[in-house]
Amino acid sequence: MANKKRLLSGIRPTGSLHIGHYLGVLRNWAKLQNEHECFYFIADWHSLTTKYKDTSELQKDILEVAKDIIASGINPNKATLYVQSAIPEVAELHLLLSMVTYQNWVERDPTLKDMVRLLAEDEEKAKGEVTYGLLGYPVLMTSDILSVLGEFVPVGKDQVAHLELSRDIARRFNHIYKTDLFPEPKALLTETPSVPGIDGRKMSKSLNNDIKIIDSEAETLKKVKQMITDPKKIKKTDKGEPNDCQVVYKHYEIFADKKTLEIVQDECRGTKIGCVDCKTRLAGIINASLSEVRKKRESLNTDKEILEILDIGNKKARQVAKHTLEKVRDAMKLKTWS
Ligand code: TRP
Ligand code: SF4
Repeated sequence: MANKKRLLSGIRPTGSLHIGHYLGVLRNWAKLQNEHECFYFIADWHSLTTKYKDTSELQKDILEVAKDIIASGINPNKATLYVQSAIPEVAELHLLLSMVTYQNWVERDPTLKDMVRLLAEDEEKAKGEVTYGLLGYPVLMTSDILSVLGEFVPVGKDQVAHLELSRDIARRFNHIYKTDLFPEPKALLTETPSVPGIDGRKMSKSLNNDIKIIDSEAETLKKVKQMITDPKKIKKTDKGEPNDCQVVYKHYEIFADKKTLEIVQDECRGTKIGCVDCKTRLAGIINASLSEVRKKRESLNTDKEILEILDIGNKKARQVAKHTLEKVRDAMKLKTWS
């Protein structure tokens, strides 16, 4: 449809994704594919900005993420699903945009500063770990977006600072080369629940506290049983308080309906249930809400099929990016060599 806006978003291939990714990113992507012209991609170059030393699992991780994306309802016939590194034009655009991006714009990016802090506990040491590539993280993101002239970018709060930079870069390019080629991409902030990991910290693969989309029902139950509960409630006959049961009850709030929440509150406060039973019920609810995605995930097991889907998406995205780059070179008085 001609009046559909172009939308783009990417996800880093961290291996099998967890339920936080599903609830926060993928479910939203599936919804948006019906409203916009969507480009979704796996940001393998972005992974390299911090994980460049060990790339042995990268190709496997890309496939795992692609399967999780498709299982979550993203339909490759509706959205263009591709791999970043299959589009060399994005790298060229990164180079060209880097020319108009002031160094201090990048250095001011608070999300990048946070990433640097995570590299090492000691801030001074962390600075020593920053590569030129990592510094370019938001410029590369800008190239992803502008290579397909994306207008909307669904992202989490942590990515908004990067997008501010994208807008600055797009504006500056248009101004210098007297063109209106680039849109100023807007963040589409979505209300997403923040999902705690089973230990109460943010759910993350690297903290090893995540429940994965591909986990079996039994694995899910095992992980839910490890969740911490209200420390006051040890036995069934102890009174508990759901609001002091940060991890279990938070998952109830995310996955269960209102009526179930009332039952949990009543049973927990009224010593009608023990934590083990309460967690078993929670695991059942989580498993039920993931069952469709997991079923689809299992039916997708041939890598060949996934690679074919990606191949089609790569070609489509590349076609668009090639066209954009011709215009970029034109604007900059560069030549498109045959
Ligand atoms: N940086 C994003 C993240 O870590 C992934 C990403 C890369 C992205 N390029 C993008 C997101 C372009 C939106 C648009 O989540
Ligand atoms: Fe948490 Fe349920 Fe135990 Fe109450 S009964 S403390 S909500 S796990």
